[in-house]
Amino acid sequence: MKARVLLVYASLSLWRLPMSAVSENSVFNNKDRFVQGWYWALRSRELKAGRVKALELLGRKLAVYRGEDGTARTVDAHCPHMGAHLAEGRVDGSSLRCFFHDWKFNETGTCVEAPSLKSAPKACIKTWPTTEKYGMIWVYTGSDANAPVPFVPELESLEVDSSRGNCFIKNCHPNVVMINAIDAHHFNTVHNLPVELLFKTEKINPSAMTFSNTTKLPDKSAFTRFLGRFYAGPLTYKMSYWCGSNGTVTIGPDFLHFHIMFAIRMLENGRAEGQTILITKKRPGVLGWAFNKTLLFLTKIVGNYFAKGDTKIFETIQFDFKTPTKADRAIIDFIQDVETQKALCWETWAPAPIQQESMTALRDNLELDEAEAKLDLSPAPENSPALNAIESH
Ligand code: FES
Ligand SMILES: [Fe+2]
Repeated sequence: MKARVLLVYASLSLWRLPMSAVSENSVFNNKDRFVQGWYWALRSRELKAGRVKALELLGRKLAVYRGEDGTARTVDAHCPHMGAHLAEGRVDGSSLRCFFHDWKFNETGTCVEAPSLKSAPKACIKTWPTTEKYGMIWVYTGSDANAPVPFVPELESLEVDSSRGNCFIKNCHPNVVMINAIDAHHFNTVHNLPVELLFKTEKINPSAMTFSNTTKLPDKSAFTRFLGRFYAGPLTYKMSYWCGSNGTVTIGPDFLHFHIMFAIRMLENGRAEGQTILITKKRPGVLGWAFNKTLLFLTKIVGNYFAKGDTKIFETIQFDFKTPTKADRAIIDFIQDVETQKALCWETWAPAPIQQESMTALRDNLELDEAEAKLDLSPAPENSPALNAIESH
């Protein structure tokens, strides 16, 4: 009976949500929408002091420059005078000068000097919050950066060492790349891992959600029993998701955790451009430095193992979540979390106007489903597609 109730719950709450969640008005897997937040822009070492570079981020044309004070700053690309690209200009102290008529814009984007005029004209360029972390320059896609740059939750209060892993382009949306890491079933089928993952979710701040595995290593073979000795509790596998487009993975035995960040931004037509970043807590002294170098190298190998197995899927997938199963519960939680975050439009970075409407409908569906699931103890409908899918898996 209990199993039947669970199936009814699953058929009601799993079935409707993904269909609502992937509609054209929603944020998830939408090539014209993205969640407001921090996105990686450039590698820090690519931008020397006194230099400026052009960047197209989430459809918006930008100029990123590093002042002579060493601080990286980001402005809209085109000069408010006649539209010259400011990446053709030059850095002057902490300001940026346009190449065309030499107008000077200070760090707040205000024009403070125009050589041919007695006083500076009333003109300004839009500036965007910019910071550096993990050897990368990050840009916030809103005016007030009131969210932290993505971090590994268990390293939140610690100093860290990091190194850059691979960069990659995938032929599918960043959201679709992200859900791979909580697609419980595919760990058996693609990565040949003899594990069963079941996630507990927790919202750690408005832009981030964690998924932590709760299952122990199975008692199936001598190998898994041996591995199990290194875990006092569940098998460590934790994801943290930021804006649906950045993810950190924490894996490894109790005595040594590996942390990998997948920092992804959307390209035109909804493709994904990503960067892996390998992170560990700072360790003191020369020995600590050498240990971390080795550990980060090993972390890169671990990350590559997981990234490689799915490569061909991302080349050809046309994501269409028609038949969710019980094992897909975490993916549905992820979609729902993406839908609740503030969405912006590709290129303009203006708030997405229809999100609220679509979210209200989504929430109504959910609340209805949850209520139905609590009350309805009758047999599941014979022709429920979700139930059929669940029962056949
Ligand atoms: S176009 Fe930039 S100063 Fe004239
Ligand atoms: Fe995978």
